[in-house]
Amino acid sequence: MADRKKLIEGLNQDLANELGASILYLYQTSTATGYDGEELREFLRPEINGELQHAIFLADKIVALGGKPTTTPTQYKSPKDVKGMLKYDQKLEREAIENYRMRAMQAEEAGEIGLKVKLEEIIVDETAHAEQIERILRGM
Ligand SMILES: [Fe+2]
Ligand SMILES: [Fe+2]
Repeated sequence: MADRKKLIEGLNQDLANELGASILYLYQTSTATGYDGEELREFLRPEINGELQHAIFLADKIVALGGKPTTTPTQYKSPKDVKGMLKYDQKLEREAIENYRMRAMQAEEAGEIGLKVKLEEIIVDETAHAEQIERILRGM
C-alpha cells in the first residue's frame, strides 16, 4: 500500500509536468518568430495535443488507483529565442523520459503491469520528441 501511495504521488507530478508542457508548447508556438519560429510552430503544434493525451491517461489512471488528479500545471518559463526554446524543451523531454523510467519501475513493484507497459509507450513518444529536437538543434 505504501508503494501505491508513492506511485500515485509520482503520477501526479508527471501529470502536472504534462499539463505544463502542453501549455509551454502552446505558448512557444504562438510566440516564436522568424523563419525558425515558423518551423517550430509546424512541428511543435501537434505536441500540444500529444502532451495533453499523456495528461488525460495519467489523470484517469490516478483516479483508477484511488487518487485525486492535480489541476495545477508545472510552471515552465520559456526562453524568448527559438534556439533557447528548443534547448529548454530538449531538457524537459529528457527529464520526462527519466521520470517515466522510474515510474515504470514503481508501477512494476506495485504490481501494475498494464500501467508499466503504458508508461513505457509514453517513453517511446518522449524519446521521439527528444531525438527530433536534438536533430534540429544539431543543424542550427
Ligand atoms: Fe508527454
Ligand atoms: Fe514530449
